[in-house]
Amino acid sequence: MSIRFNGKVAVVTGAGGGLGKQHALALAARGAKVVVNDFGRAAPGADGGALSAADAVVNEIRAAGGTAIANHASVTDEAAVAAMVREAVGTWGRIDILVNNAGILRDKSFGKMDLADFRLVLDVHLMGAAICTKAAWDIMRAQKYGRIVMTTSSSGLYGNFGQANYGAAKMALVGLMQTLSIEGAKDNIRVNCLAPTAATRMTEGLMPADVLAKLAPESVTPGLLYLVSEDAPTRAILCAGAGTFERAYITLTDGVHVGTGPDAAEGVAARFAAISDRTDETVPENGGTQGKNEVAKAMAAI
Ligand code: NAI
Repeated sequence: MSIRFNGKVAVVTGAGGGLGKQHALALAARGAKVVVNDFGRAAPGADGGALSAADAVVNEIRAAGGTAIANHASVTDEAAVAAMVREAVGTWGRIDILVNNAGILRDKSFGKMDLADFRLVLDVHLMGAAICTKAAWDIMRAQKYGRIVMTTSSSGLYGNFGQANYGAAKMALVGLMQTLSIEGAKDNIRVNCLAPTAATRMTEGLMPADVLAKLAPESVTPGLLYLVSEDAPTRAILCAGAGTFERAYITLTDGVHVGTGPDAAEGVAARFAAISDRTDETVPENGGTQGKNEVAKAMAAI
């Protein structure tokens, strides 16, 4: 079973380096026409930093026989993103795949973090992904085909010291994915999250050199390729690093009906271990499932 993207058009944001670059190269190598988006400059070295990062990746794709165009929009700029989508559709007639990958860090412990940096990180990760997805959404609905990936993070899923802003933004993307996968289902739009671990500019100072050596960004990309393929799942949170792949779930324990009496708070305290018991845990199919479980238990208690 080989995964191919012939005839498919993909937009990868933040694809001038790191993970996005590897995603773009791999999509193009497997036949996709790729919009390589990045607002940054290329790292000095290959071309002395004279080219934009996106242009350098496009050159690499073309040199390997692939098809790509560069785009320099910031994902936070609605008008520029709308123009990027217009250009992709104008050039190739459709958008099948959107990889929301662009991102930044502004790490500090929460006590030292100012709210301007909190807003900035939310703006790039959450609003950037929402803006790009919104720009492509109606096109995907009309063509009854879409594959969208939100790049989340273990920092959002599980927390990380110094990353309150980033973790909040990354977990918000999981929430966006949950609802868009439900709303997109009838139009064959599948939406998933990728939680990568990779040695990139973003993680340079954060991990020791021998650990980083194991974490080539291209070892994450196979997971991305599956999540945007014809046979992709939907509503998955796929974790990936160093060639290992895991799946994360947002689960619900079966719970305990404690009641609504004056001593209910003490009841929650007394039964907290049973409330937390994971034996009959489920992955609810939507938010309404939690309410149904609660009301069903309350009815059964009458
Ligand atoms: P990177 O810094 O190498 O790449 C991010 C790219 O996004 C850069 O080329 C940058 O110019 C671009 N970018 C930033 N803001 C932009 C904007 N407003 N508009 C357009 N482009 C913009 O970092 P890396 O590691 O490749 O990160 C890619 C994604 O993976 C990010 O969303 C990051 O949060 C996520 N991630 C990375 C992890 C890792 O271990 N490297 C861990 C978890 C998540």
